[in-house]
This record gives sequence, structure tokens and C-alpha cells, in this order.
Amino acid sequence: MTTLADTWGINKAQFWLRGLRPERTVEHDSAAGFWNVYGYPEVLEVLSDPATFSSNTQRLVPEAAGFQEGNLVRMDPPQHHKLRKLVSHAFTPKVVANLEPRIAALTGELLDAVNDRTELVADLAYPLPVIVIAELLGVPSSDRGLFKQWVDAMFANSNRFSLKERSKEQEEYLAKAMEQVRQLTDYLGEHVRERRRAPREDLLGKLVAAEVDGARLTDAEVVNFGMVLLVAGHITTTMLLGNTVLCLDAHPEQFAKVRADRSLVPATIEESLRYFSPFAALSRVTNREVELAGAQIPADELLLLWIAAANRDPRQFTDPDVFDIERDPNPQIGFGRGIHFCLGAPLARLEGRVALNILLDRFPNLRTDPANGPEFMPSPNMTGVRKLPLLL
Ligand code: HEM
Repeated sequence: MTTLADTWGINKAQFWLRGLRPERTVEHDSAAGFWNVYGYPEVLEVLSDPATFSSNTQRLVPEAAGFQEGNLVRMDPPQHHKLRKLVSHAFTPKVVANLEPRIAALTGELLDAVNDRTELVADLAYPLPVIVIAELLGVPSSDRGLFKQWVDAMFANSNRFSLKERSKEQEEYLAKAMEQVRQLTDYLGEHVRERRRAPREDLLGKLVAAEVDGARLTDAEVVNFGMVLLVAGHITTTMLLGNTVLCLDAHPEQFAKVRADRSLVPATIEESLRYFSPFAALSRVTNREVELAGAQIPADELLLLWIAAANRDPRQFTDPDVFDIERDPNPQIGFGRGIHFCLGAPLARLEGRVALNILLDRFPNLRTDPANGPEFMPSPNMTGVRKLPLLL
């Protein structure tokens, strides 16, 4: 059977998008040197036990050394809790709700520039979240072309990651990706040093002034923290916006439902996150030997947690391959779970809701271009459109 994933040329490694189920919910990939976790309860078990399953996976990837300080996603308790507390107040649903008028105005301005056709990613899905996060951090949103160049190169790889033998192509990709990270950290470093000279009230300025246990954060900590926010704060939301429109277009009866009843918009965003989870895989490393779904996993092993596959686990979701915007309950884990639950989830949900509502308001005939199909991110760890031509 040809599935939508085949038609759209989504990375072949993502078998769960093709109606297939894993043979085992936890399996060792001996060629690549890590474990795959595909099942919903198994992924939750790992995410709820940070003492056993550490987020500090960089200890297994020597190339990543130097980007660890201040990298919230890769931290364990108790440091993780202290750093997260510093920024969590900037992303509460209440604080984020105040951004709604700005997000609506930006969406309007970006869409004013399109005529009878659009490439949704370039015209809206990329610039909207990147402008919002740049404004929050306090870096010029006009530099977004630079961010795009750096971030695109970080996620350009279409090969499966391996801890063992790497091909020449993979080595080259890794070296290039690390070079992009370096350029982005140099860029943010300039901004951090400027904040030290002249304090400002933006998020970078607040991080520069903040204290943990009576000590200021170092420049490297603020830079790496800023980098996580900048990168996590936009590529995923870009994919969410594009995926949602594409899923609706591919399921006309669902599209008609949400057009007729806008109270279904938030649930549509949740179903899009389940059906096409932008961040397909999370990673953890075992601190000790542990048993998971009958598999005996030694200490210091890397686990890839395929939240995108878990979101299609039939033990948790009835008819998991059906895109149903009225799915209730919908405990999708596209934003993760536990202590690292996505800090930006309220912001991403708001951007998704505002943008989708405005698209529906403005374009009653919004549809894909039969002569020009969508293009997906090549990485096996991401599921999301990077080009979506639409007729208006
Ligand atoms: C659709 C959009 C988004 C998706 C699918 C997404 C997904 C995720 C996931 C799965 C995690 C958990 C990582 C882990 O457990 O290892 C995470 C963490 C995080 N996300 Fe998001 N994210 C999105 C948008 C955003 C936005 C807009 C921001 C920016 C403010 C953001 C900032 C973060 C941060 C800072 C973390 C780390 C939290 C921690 O380690 O405590 N994300 N995100």
C-alpha cells in the first residue's frame, strides 16, 4: 500500500508513518550501537526516571563537548531544575498569552505579502516563530536569514545516526554541523558581551543578570542556553504549522469540520503533533544497568526514544494511523513528558492556533498545488515539511 509518507518522500526509516509496527517495542541496534524505544508506555517509563536515564548524552559524543554548559535539554537534576526555574516564568501560559496580539499582527503582515499562491514555510511557517523567539531573546529578527543558514546545515543529514562506524559523508556532515553551531555561538556570544556592558530587559539580558546559588551564569552558559531557545524555539514550530495545513489538506472531511467549527483548532494542533510529531526522537543515556520491556540494558548505553512512533502505539491510541481532530482524549507526547517537558509548548500551541485561524479566515480555498508537492526535512529524527507550496 502506498501511504502518504511514501507519496511525500518522507525518510524511509520512519516506518510508523507507513502503517507498520515495530517487532519489539525496545530493541538494540547493534550496527549503530544504541537502543531504539518505540512503545508509548516504555517511552513514558524512561522519561519519568531521570535518575536512571540521563539527558547528558553528550558524554558519549566527544564532538559535542563544549556545548554542554547551560544546555538545559542535556542537563540532569539538580542543575536542570535550577536553570529551568530561571526562565520558566518567561514561558508560562499566562505570560505567553500576552504575546497573542503580536503573533496575530505578525501573521497578518507576513500574509499581506502573498498573492494567489504561497510557499507556506518561507512565507509564514519559518519567519513567524523565528521572529517571535528572536524578539523574546532580544536579537535582531532581521538576522533570521543567518539563523536559517546555520540551523538548516545542522539538520541536513538524511542518514541514521550511529555511535559506531561513521561514513566519510557522516563525518563531513558532523564537522559541518559543528561549524554551524560554532558560528551561532559566536554570534550569540557577541550579544551576551554587549548585555554585560549595557544591561537590557530582554531574555538574554535577564539571563546575564540572573544568579544560580548566588553566582552569575558564565558567558558560555548564557550562550548555550540562548542557542537552545533560538533553535528549539523555531524549527519545530515551523514544522508544526506546515504539517497541520498539509494534514488538513490530505483529509478534506477533517478540514471541513475545523472550518465549520473553529473551537476545534486547538485539538487540530494536538492531533497534528501526534500524527506527525516534528521532533521524532529524544535521547537518553543509562546511568546503570536497567530492564525495559524485558530487555536488559547495560549502563552507559544510548537510547533513542521515538516519540513519533509512540504517538502511533495502538496500545494507547485507537486507530493510530487515522488523522482525527476530534480524538479525545489525546495524550500525545510530541512535546515530551516529565522534567524536560517542552518549555515552549504554550508558545508553540499559541502560534499554531493563531496562524491556523488567520489562514482559515483569509483563504477559503486554501489547498496544495497538485503540480508542486510538499518537501520534507531529510533527517530521520524530524518529521516536518520544509517546503509547502499552496494555492490560495
Ligand atoms: C511544535 C513545536 C515544538 C515541539 C514539537 C517541541 C518539542 C520538544 C520536546 C519533545 C522537548 C523535550 C526534549 C527532551 O525531553 O529531551 C522539548 C524541550 C524544550 N523545548 Fe520545545 N518544542 C517545540 C517548541 C518550542 C518552542 C517554541 C520553544 C521556545 C521557547 C521550545 C523550547 C524548548 C526548551 C527550552 C526545551 C528544554 C526543556 C528542558 O530541558 O527542561 N520548544 N521541546
